[in-house]
Amino acid sequence: MCGIVGYTGFQNAIHILMDGLSHLEYRGYDSSGIALEKDEINIFKASGKLVNLVESLKKADDDKLDAKTGIGHIRWATHGLPTVENAHPHTSSTGDIALVHNGIIENYKEVKSFLENKGYSFKSQTDTEVAAMLIGYEYDIHKDLKTAVEAAIKQLKGAWAFCVMHKNEKGTIVATRKNAPLLIGVGEGENFLASDIPAIIKHTKRAIYLNDGQIAKVTPDLIEIFNPDGTIAQNKVEVLPFEPMALSKMGYKHFMLKEIHEQPDVVRNILQNKIKDEFSKILLSDVNLSEKQLKDINRIQIIACGTSLHAGLVGKYIIEELTGIPTDVEPSSEYIYRSTIADKNTLVIGISQSGETADTITAIKQVKEKGSHVLIITNRKESLLARLSDSLLHVNAGIEVSVAATKSYIAQLMSLYLFAIYMAETLNKSADKVQEIKHELLTLPSKLEAVLSEGMKIREIAKKYSSFKNFIFIARGINYPTALEGALKLKEISYINATGYAAGELKHGPIAMLDETMPVLAIMNKGLVYDKVMSNCEEAFARQARLIGVANHIDDKHKAIFNDYILIPDISDLVSPALNITVLQLLAYHIAEYLGKDVDQPRNLAKSVTVE
Ligand code: M6R
Repeated sequence: MCGIVGYTGFQNAIHILMDGLSHLEYRGYDSSGIALEKDEINIFKASGKLVNLVESLKKADDDKLDAKTGIGHIRWATHGLPTVENAHPHTSSTGDIALVHNGIIENYKEVKSFLENKGYSFKSQTDTEVAAMLIGYEYDIHKDLKTAVEAAIKQLKGAWAFCVMHKNEKGTIVATRKNAPLLIGVGEGENFLASDIPAIIKHTKRAIYLNDGQIAKVTPDLIEIFNPDGTIAQNKVEVLPFEPMALSKMGYKHFMLKEIHEQPDVVRNILQNKIKDEFSKILLSDVNLSEKQLKDINRIQIIACGTSLHAGLVGKYIIEELTGIPTDVEPSSEYIYRSTIADKNTLVIGISQSGETADTITAIKQVKEKGSHVLIITNRKESLLARLSDSLLHVNAGIEVSVAATKSYIAQLMSLYLFAIYMAETLNKSADKVQEIKHELLTLPSKLEAVLSEGMKIREIAKKYSSFKNFIFIARGINYPTALEGALKLKEISYINATGYAAGELKHGPIAMLDETMPVLAIMNKGLVYDKVMSNCEEAFARQARLIGVANHIDDKHKAIFNDYILIPDISDLVSPALNITVLQLLAYHIAEYLGKDVDQPRNLAKSVTVE
């Protein structure tokens, strides 16, 4: 969470910083600020969205804005309210040093009292100001910014990406990171720093990734990188993967709508060259497990958060169905604080769209120590999680800008199907089901297109239900995670209190809430649990709940009790989650859009959750 950007070169820094921050808004957007280096360090900050900073800069003295070196920050509050005082950059006591930070300083209270005892006083409630003051304290001793940063981080615990400037070290930005992302964009006579690629991709396609604990001293013509032991490092310059085009809405009102509409192509893209037809063996060269290792796997653990966790829950159904290997799914934040049982015969699958989620990174680091093979499914092949993997399935969904995950979810599902098929084929299991799934996957893109063409109907239904304050989503079997994900999408972007339940659980408590004010959306796929879900719908109907059906089969029985329904193309149970979720994404989108919510940047959320 939080986005940072830095620039030093021959251009006007302010334009590069502000443009960079606008591409990092997905990381947080509750306040922002920049520091520009002239004779002094000039700081400009605003609470609220980036547009407020843009407005306040219009009133600033032009001379102060005319700088060639600067750092910027967009915040997702962890310590202290999203006020101007708490916004970054933060400064040392003299104001000579400015610092932007992504992460959390866990021992900030101890460091703060150490500094208070030395006479320092603080203006904000943040952990970051403590780091800025500590660097200032060390600078007074060492009179060199890089050495001061080096000395300060030895005293800090937690996670950070820092960019720091000192008014006496002209054109210099010192940067360092630990468990938070930071890359250096390499230019000609100018260099860039950023939390993520979109902030700098317009300016350069070449970048250096810093490793944990390394410190970089960046000037317009030189990038020096130092290892934690002080030796000079030679990090390689990598070519960045994104095209600026991916960052455009392409005529859609919101990125979320555009990203939902990209789903058929995302599926085509990921299946291409992997599944030729239903009869040929799958090609999955990214899995670095020998046949012997695969055969020895006796347990699978899937760890992830939020939407990725829901993809993992679908994955459990598929993997167990095709391979018979017991598969557990757990939120990363729970996994890390108990004695988990994993060994070399456990395959651990970490799923993360961003590849940056702190809880998942911690969990994966823990299992690596136990000798388990780690398979990472992510949309960011250059991310920290990807770098921790033994096998990497890059879902290749293209950059997802909207905070609510949509196309990355479908892409995660596809990777799980591919991996389950790969395992089943290697283990010679479930040949018929494998063939059926391959056939269904190959027809999925056109079925997704058919669902998308129902957009107007879904919009009408959304409008009808947008005034309800609560929602229940029910499903059974492999679509139970779809109910959870549909409810998550709705609450994330519309702030409506939506909950997903296993339909059979309704009668064990939630049924008490049912009356005409509680719409119940049921996912009904003609298959194993269809009649059971129908019975649960009858129970809800008897309590006067308004019923919405998402089904691939509608008969008179439905028509008698459903207030509204959305008919989807026929699809097998095992592949249906990918189609059903598309309906629920569109429903959530249209409800939020109708309510006038900030769809792409919902309140309190961020695209990358880099704090535990
Ligand atoms: O980047 P990750 O997939 O690891 O992120 C996990 C969750 O934070 C994420 O899925 C979150 O729930 C999204 N806002 C869902 O739309």
